[in-house]
Parts: sequence; structure tokens; C-alpha cells
Amino acid sequence: MVLEHLLADERARPVLDRLHALDQAQRQAGLPPGQRIRSVTPSTGAFLYATALALRPARVFEMGSSVGYSTIWLALAAREYGGRVIGSELRPERVEEANRHLREAGLDAVAEIREGDAAAIAQALDGLGLVFIDAEKDDYTRLFQAVIDHVLPGGLLLTDNVVSHDCSDYLAFLRQRRDVTTVTLPFERGIEWTVKRW
Ligand SMILES: C[S@@+](CC[C@H](N)C(=O)[O-])C[C@H]1O[C@@H](n2cnc3c(N)ncnc32)[C@H](O)[C@@H]1O
Repeated sequence: MVLEHLLADERARPVLDRLHALDQAQRQAGLPPGQRIRSVTPSTGAFLYATALALRPARVFEMGSSVGYSTIWLALAAREYGGRVIGSELRPERVEEANRHLREAGLDAVAEIREGDAAAIAQALDGLGLVFIDAEKDDYTRLFQAVIDHVLPGGLLLTDNVVSHDCSDYLAFLRQRRDVTTVTLPFERGIEWTVKRW
């Protein structure tokens, strides 16, 4: 049993359980990254949920949704305070799966996954209070540059895997910007906590 999944309701919990079990099985089988769903850990999911509950952003944007595990966590929070989540995913089959998982979890009125490059999708969005960046690690700088003008002053950008992977170029890039304050949280795979200044 995954303790974090007890935070979800009875409809979303089995979907979270199933996706996490699939992610674990794929890792244990040693599948290459392109063949894995590469979900965040349950603790990171719970962290996203708690962060969204604390900040209550009207609009949340996720860059790299895969099959929707982290999107479900963000949507669980958004439903509680009346927010909305937009996810994004390059691979069409994953978009379909992710939207199916949101329906199964009873969260499709709160969240949707759009197909395409997250950087392009960001151009149609405004007033973002929370952005979760979890696509390819060597693409983080481009994704950040594409989304930052669409984030509200005081908005938060969270980027996953900044400790588990070499994200030194991205971390250095953030630190020379004057429009953000950023700190690395050594939590799970490493989460960069970046606040847009006002
Ligand atoms: C690490 S997985 C995301 C996992 C997901 N956040 C979760 O925890 O359930 C990264 C995903 O980002 C997608 N991706 C990569 N580059 C992208 C881009 N530029 N725009 C949108 N999606 C992208 C990949 O196809 C992959 O499914």
C-alpha cells in the first residue's frame, strides 16, 4: 500500500496505485526511459498536491504529463479550491491515456492534457500561478523561457529531477536571472523551487 495515495479519494486512488505500480515494474524491468511512463514518486505527488493546496493557483500548467500520474495529484488539489489544471504531452498515445486516466479518476472537469510541445502550448496560456516542469532535462531552459512571461508575479515554478540528473546548466541559468528567486530542494529526485518576482 502506498501511504501517500490515501490522500486521494476512492475514485482517484486506484488509478494512482495502478500507474505507480506500472512505473515501478517498468523501472525494475530495466526498460529504457523512452519506454517508461517516468512518473514522479508518490512523495513528490503528495508534495505537488500540498503545494497547490497552500497556494491555490487558479491556473496550473504542467510541462510533460506522460500518462497523467502527477496531473492527477495537481487536479485533486485544484478540485478542492476551484482551480484548473492544463497538462501537456508530446506523444499522442500518452495524451489519450492521460485524459482517460483523468476521466477514470473523476477529475476531467478540473484537468485536461493538451497534445504538443509544452513550449508552444504555453503561448496560449496566461495568469499561471503554478507551473510544474517535468519534460526532458536538457530542454528545461527552453521550456522555462517559453513559459515565464505567462506566469503571474509571485507565481511558482517547480522543476523535477534537478538532483537525480545533471541540470547544472539550467540551475546556473536560473541563478543569473534577476526576475526569479530560486532554491534547490533536496527532496526525492530534487525539486527546483523558483518564484517569479514582482
Ligand atoms: C518524466 S515524464 C513526465 C511524468 C509526469 N510528469 C508524471 O509524473 O506522471 C516526461 C514526459 O514529457 C514528455 N515530453 C518531452 N518533451 C516534451 C515537450 N517539449 N512538451 C511536452 N511533453 C514533452 C515525454 O513524452 C514524457 O512523456
